[in-house]
Amino acid sequence: MLSSVACRALAIAFIGLTLTNSVQGSNHPISNDIVCPANSHVSFVHNSYTYNAPLHNFTDITGSFFNISWYGGTVVSSTTGTDNVPGATRSGPFAGGIYNETLTAIEKRPDALLFSYHGKGFTFTPGPSYPALRWDGYTETMRFESICGGKATYIDVLTYTCSNNQRLTYTAWSILHTSSFDGLAQSFGATILAGDCPQEAHCDKN
Ligand SMILES: *[C@@H]1O[C@H](CO)[C@@H](O)[C@H](O)[C@H]1NC(C)=O
Ligand SMILES: *[C@@H]1O[C@H](CO)[C@@H](O)[C@H](O)[C@H]1NC(C)=O
Ligand SMILES: *[C@@H]1O[C@H](CO)[C@@H](O)[C@H](O)[C@H]1NC(C)=O
Repeated sequence: MLSSVACRALAIAFIGLTLTNSVQGSNHPISNDIVCPANSHVSFVHNSYTYNAPLHNFTDITGSFFNISWYGGTVVSSTTGTDNVPGATRSGPFAGGIYNETLTAIEKRPDALLFSYHGKGFTFTPGPSYPALRWDGYTETMRFESICGGKATYIDVLTYTCSNNQRLTYTAWSILHTSSFDGLAQSFGATILAGDCPQEAHCDKN
């Protein structure tokens, strides 16, 4: 029998291995890198989250390219193509501008869901205390993965953006990502997973 400290260390090592393997093994099908026009600069934002709830609790809500009401309350007012088929587009109002995104890749497996899409340029105002922000195009890859034997979910988002303000772009995406995923998790009572998988099968609870 393992002490709880050893057990915890093993659990952490296991999570580390699982995440490392899946990151290396997932070979993102799409290059997210983008080329910016003159007077526009690229920035990238990578956020990741882990929550104590099964994958399906998330993907039941996030599984449609045509419905992103969970993503900052974003309205989709017009679409082209077929939902969840690459080439489909979604468009709608966003903070004083109009976004228009094209699905470039989707991967749906029992243990993972991945969306990759490209956004056209538009100008919007992130909030009352911020200046207008011009995006000249962006790509985003969002991945939901089952971890801890199905008990928890790992989410990561990688976003490349061409803009006239790299610092504000980073802030805007980070706030949107964190508020959306935390809000989604809270909506069905999932807590943030601090490190250990919940109820490790071979460990004593003490
Ligand atoms: C979009 O998803 C939300 C949350 O799952 C749901 O309440 C809403 O009815 C959906 N909207 C449409 C148009 O399907
Ligand atoms: C969004 O872009 C697509 C592809 O270029 C286009 O077919 C669609 O009409 C655009 N939607 C809006 C609302 O402009
Ligand atoms: C997840 O979904 C299941 C049923 O599909 C539900 O019983 C459970 O309460 C949901 N939330 C969490 C945090 O597991």
